Order: sequence, then structure tokens, then C-alpha cells
Amino acid sequence: MIVNIFDYGMNGEGVAKLNGKIVLVPNAMVGETADIFVTNDYKNYAEAKVVKIIQPSPARIDSNCKITGCGGCGLTHMRYDEQLKFKQLLIKKTIKKIARIDTEVNPTVASDKQFNYRNKASFVVGDMVGFYKENSHNLVDVEYCHLMDKNINNVLNIFKNWKIINKNCIKNLVVRSLNNQILVGVVTEKEFDLSSFLEVLKQLYLPVGLYQIINTRKDSVVLAGAVKHIGGIKEIELNNFGIKYSIDIMSFHQTNEYIQNKIYTQVLNYIKPEHVVTNAFSGAGLLTAIASKKAKKVYGVELVKSAHKLAEQLKQANNLTNVTNINMDFNKFLLNPPKTDIILLDPPKKGCGKILEKLDIKTIIYISCNPISLAKDLQILTKKYIIEEITPYDMFPNTTSVETVVKLRRK
Ligand SMILES: C[S@@+](CC[C@H](N)C(=O)[O-])C[C@H]1O[C@@H](n2cnc3c(N)ncnc32)[C@H](O)[C@@H]1O
Repeated sequence: MIVNIFDYGMNGEGVAKLNGKIVLVPNAMVGETADIFVTNDYKNYAEAKVVKIIQPSPARIDSNCKITGCGGCGLTHMRYDEQLKFKQLLIKKTIKKIARIDTEVNPTVASDKQFNYRNKASFVVGDMVGFYKENSHNLVDVEYCHLMDKNINNVLNIFKNWKIINKNCIKNLVVRSLNNQILVGVVTEKEFDLSSFLEVLKQLYLPVGLYQIINTRKDSVVLAGAVKHIGGIKEIELNNFGIKYSIDIMSFHQTNEYIQNKIYTQVLNYIKPEHVVTNAFSGAGLLTAIASKKAKKVYGVELVKSAHKLAEQLKQANNLTNVTNINMDFNKFLLNPPKTDIILLDPPKKGCGKILEKLDIKTIIYISCNPISLAKDLQILTKKYIIEEITPYDMFPNTTSVETVVKLRRK
């Protein structure tokens, strides 16, 4: 059946109409005419596959990925400027649909790197080494992932060669690479000798450290259980915005540093030297520390004790005398908050919800990784606040994910 694609869906699929019904067509682009085959026909919409693109979009490109169906990146067929436009419109449409707010959205800030930008990978190890196909437990073999840092791909191939002669109870391979320092975590069901793997990792001729994580869990959580340092470096040492910090194999760290730094630069632009800032959902405290370089005083509020401890270490290591880290649920914190000029909100995927009704701070800077929960939260916030600026950031080029920074001012 021949259709014209007139819009994009939430996941970058082409949207067409067939006999009046909406059809979602993955890998089809706005402006294209396509021959499609309907795979699922639901009451309100249908799903279809492309049989042939009859009239391609000028923004269509050949994907450089040779892996079929890992589902990791949904937009490799789109030229980068089209991806950025898609993400800008996605934020605008989601806010309009969910929050019923028709607002301007700035153009998406591009990532300097569109490939090899990911500093962390978690591969599944089975008969092959790679990723599970989307929504399944079918393992797809990966030789080279274009999203991963080159060192990560090199470690993957060294591991695969080593594994051929070392068949054992390995569940996952986790690799981190930042500033040419590499940490490798081998997740296993039980303890066994990994020293021969440490030896072959020396082929990288870079600072590298190896960890064994003994994880007996049966669910999909990868980094859990007993952690043993096998040899090499223990941590990756970093320095951003004048803050010295280190991360180990278990730490949380933003996956695309190039765009993370652009977000933090924007946040710093919003802060003035006389401001008292609260950084809610502060994690291991990097943004708190960076903000403290400009603000008069910063409070970091974090629920998880281990993350709070790391934030305290960061404060000590950098001698940050104007930082107070508070290990508390943000809900509780809002019962008696200190006087603050700006609040930074960087909540987990599910967003903040009704607690936002209690907020009474002049300026809010909301960093979101989920357009849907952002839109729901903006619906609550706009009862008391005016949206001043919305900027999407392309944290994950070639995928459908997008990070957004919103600045709001109390009415
Ligand atoms: C998206 S992460 C942000 C991390 C941090 N901004 C960073 O970039 O390192 C969300 C953080 O919020 C914390 N968190 C979740 N619920 C919370 C709550 N109710 N109160 C305080 N912190 C919470 C999580 O433990 C996590 O560290």
C-alpha cells in the first residue's frame, strides 16, 4: 500500500494515514512516499513496515551501521540536521499534547560528536557478545558500535578473542572510557581468575583497570553484587570546570560528556555570583560542585546515601567551602527549605510530580531526560511559573532520546 509520510511519532517513526487511520512506519521520513505492509492493526492506529521507499526524503542517508535490529539507534537513516529538527518538534508537540501549552522551543543543541560519543557500554555475553534486540532476549552480535568511544570497541574485540578460549560464567562486559583512561568490568555468576584477561588488555597501551563484579541476581540489573579490583587503574581521573573528580566502574556519570558540558555551561549562565542555589536530585554532586564555582552558596539534596557520600568526598577534595550536601528526600527538604534564589531540578525519569506544587523559589532550572514526565511537570509548574526558555540538548545522537533544559520564573 502506498502512503505519504507527513509527521514523526514519539520514537522517530514516520506517520501516515491509511483509510483515515494513523499508521506508524519505522524508518520512514517526513515528505517520503513509501510502499508499506501493515504488521499490526489496532483499534485507533496501525503499525507497518517499509517495503520500499518510492520517493526518498533529501535528508535520508545510508546508515553506516552493519548490525541489524539491535534497536539501539533509531535515527541513523536521518541526516543530523533532520534529527535535531525532529527532537525540537518532539519536545514542542509533547508539551502541547500533554500539558496543553503551546510554547516556543529553541533549536536542539547539537553534540560535537554524533558517533563514538558514548563513554560507557554494557554488553551482554552469551553465545555472542552484543546487545539484546529491542523488547526481547534475542542477543545480537556486535563487532563495532558506532555510538561507543573507539577504546570501548577495541576492548570489545580484545574480550571476544580472549573469550573464545576462556568459556566461562560471564554475564556482561561493562566498559568505560574517558580521556583515554579505561575501566573494564567483567560481570560473572561466580568468582574465577581473570588475570589472563588483564594481560591481554595491556595491548591497548593505555591506562586500564579491570574489575570483577560477582552478580548472582536473576533480573536485568548488571552492576550489582561484590566488586573486586583485579588490577590496573582503579579510577578514571577527570577535571571539568575546574572540579577534580574520579569515577570507578560502579559510579553514575553522564554518557555523553560533550553535551553534558554544554548543559552545565548553560546552567552556569543562569547563575549569578550573588545567588543561593539548591541542586535537587544532586547525585554524586558534580553539578553542585560546578555551580558552587559561580554561586554564593549551593545546597545539594540527594536521597541515596552512597551518592551523598561521593558528593561529600567531592566537596572535600575540591575544598568547596560554600557547599552543603543534604542526604534527604526532596519531599521532606521542601517542608522547610533554606532561602534560595535558584533551584536546579534533575529528577529521575519519572519526573517530580505533585511535590512541585510546594515549590516557591523565584527561578527553576529543570533538566529532564524524559519529554513525557517533563510535560506533566510543566503542567503543574505553569500554574505558578512562566516558561522563559526551553532548550533540547542532543545527549544521544542517532537515537530518539533527548535531554531538555527549561528555565521558569515565578509569576
Ligand atoms: C537523574 S539523576 C541526577 C544526578 C545528578 N544530577 C548528576 O548529574 O550526577 C537523579 C538523582 O535523584 C536522586 N533521587 C531520586 N529520588 C529522590 C528524592 N525523592 N529525593 C532526593 N533525591 C532523589 C537519585 O538517587 C539520583 O541520584
